[in-house]
Amino acid sequence: MLERNGYLTMMNFHILTLFPEMVMQGLHTSILGRAVEREYISIEAVNIRDYTLDKHGKVDDYTYGGGAGMLMQAQPVYDAWRAVSERITARGATPGRVIYVTPQGKTFHQKMAQELAVEEDLTFLCGHYEGIDERVLEEIVTDEISIGDYVLTGGELPAMVMIDAIARLVPGVLHNTDSAMTESFCDGLLEYPQYSRPEIWHDKRVPPILLCGDHAKVDAWRLEQSVIRTRERRPDLYETYCKRTRSL
Ligand code: ADE
Repeated sequence: MLERNGYLTMMNFHILTLFPEMVMQGLHTSILGRAVEREYISIEAVNIRDYTLDKHGKVDDYTYGGGAGMLMQAQPVYDAWRAVSERITARGATPGRVIYVTPQGKTFHQKMAQELAVEEDLTFLCGHYEGIDERVLEEIVTDEISIGDYVLTGGELPAMVMIDAIARLVPGVLHNTDSAMTESFCDGLLEYPQYSRPEIWHDKRVPPILLCGDHAKVDAWRLEQSVIRTRERRPDLYETYCKRTRSL
């Protein structure tokens, strides 16, 4: 759990979406499901449609100026957000950051996940159709984030990707705190290759150094493998790593 002013609190994710079942099902399995049960994190999905004032349950309309497709309207999005922020305020917290997941945002990366993992509450706004009326984005959104240069049909999958990456950094969510520290990107390098039993499989032998019992040698070999891998697969990361190690 996160410690704030001497109190232990959990991290709370709120997702404004038209498809609450999709995100709730995806985020309540495996490690995150266990973290919810143990109250390290909470995840709520709020159905934007529940807040429309339209008597037919409509949440979208044509765009002014013409063009293909429909746009999500400001009113139901704003009222769904108001409901979430009132619940957060009622327990004495501040509503905090509201992330609109959109291909127009800054590209998500591991450092961003680390920065967001210290927040007490994070709200994700998932768009659909051609997007959301700009006026409500101006009123409520603090960050616009994309998960990469490709376009998906909606913001739910990107929100789930980001929540997974952030939640696993919350203290207690992973059993072994080491695993969040040693893996890819943590020190700007990709992860080294790993092996489990049996010692020989399909005539392939586990690198003998891993069986020598000398932890310093194993660590040195792993670092070397990480550097080789990063140089071959991600020259961009390798260059940054070289600059950083040179300046140390
Ligand atoms: N919505 C649609 N495509 C997206 C992307 N690549 N990142 C974030 N949100 C999106």
